[in-house]
Amino acid sequence: MKKRITKAIFPVAGLGTRFLPATKSVPKEIMTLVDRPLIQYAIDEARAAGIKEFIFVTSRGKGALEDYFDHSPQLESELRKKGKDDLLDILKTTNMDSGAIAYIRQHKALGLGHAVWCARRLVGNEPFAVILPDDVIAADKPCLQQMVEAFEDNPTNMVAAMEVPEDKAHAYGVLDVKETKGNVVSVGGMVEKPAPGEAPSNLAVIGRYLLTPQIMKNLDQMKKGKGGEVQLTDAIAEEINAGRDVLGYRFNGQRFDCGSKAGFLQATVSFGLSRDDLRGELMEYLQDIVGGSRAAAE
Ligand code: G1P
Repeated sequence: MKKRITKAIFPVAGLGTRFLPATKSVPKEIMTLVDRPLIQYAIDEARAAGIKEFIFVTSRGKGALEDYFDHSPQLESELRKKGKDDLLDILKTTNMDSGAIAYIRQHKALGLGHAVWCARRLVGNEPFAVILPDDVIAADKPCLQQMVEAFEDNPTNMVAAMEVPEDKAHAYGVLDVKETKGNVVSVGGMVEKPAPGEAPSNLAVIGRYLLTPQIMKNLDQMKKGKGGEVQLTDAIAEEINAGRDVLGYRFNGQRFDCGSKAGFLQATVSFGLSRDDLRGELMEYLQDIVGGSRAAAE
């Protein structure tokens, strides 16, 4: 029988310094895209892909995340009393089944690979997903679901991949492409944040991974890579060196880098425009200001 992926790791231990002072008291993952926190988009995507167990790798100061996924009896009973069923329905999407969510602390910021490794006991000896909530992907079929479907035919390590401009490749894990078949790319090597001019291609790793349990074993060695951190990219690249397959999956959809301010703002505008209740007003405003600045420039 084919092994289904039912566990996902969400590395959410980062300090979010790029968003200070907001992140002084609010975890980055709770910051709001239109009316939902970033983490909700990641959870919805995981659910659509069949994930049943959600493992958060957190750090000090992330308590608001735990509260967010908890039930809120007082608020719920107030809404029930007032007959606000629509709001109750919205709240339901934030509730997790008992025992479906686990929080593990990463005690030291030793890198993404280390954060993932912190969840090794909860993952056990099965394939698992990793979702980086900073990467928000708008797609008709959610990105992780696309990958899980591809994994059924190719049950091996798979990373989401997207072309990026050459001068941006240094900010990503980059794939050395051996062969492309449809959306699936066979990977001959992976480099974490290559120096300018040294990227093996312009196909970058985006924050969705389906990984075999061997990756946890590779991480056991705690090898330090780029920036002196334990890199997930390196643990995956080791599989290629060991002669095992690693695939890139060129997903359909638009990715927003919500780890950067410009990316967050772009996502806000795009998600706002995709909403029936907001599109009209927002569009009018955007046309106004763009038209206004054009007129001023002329
Ligand atoms: C991480 C990974 C990198 C990947 C990127 C995608 O980097 O290490 O390989 O390309 O996420 O967003 P970070 O952006 O956390 O520095």
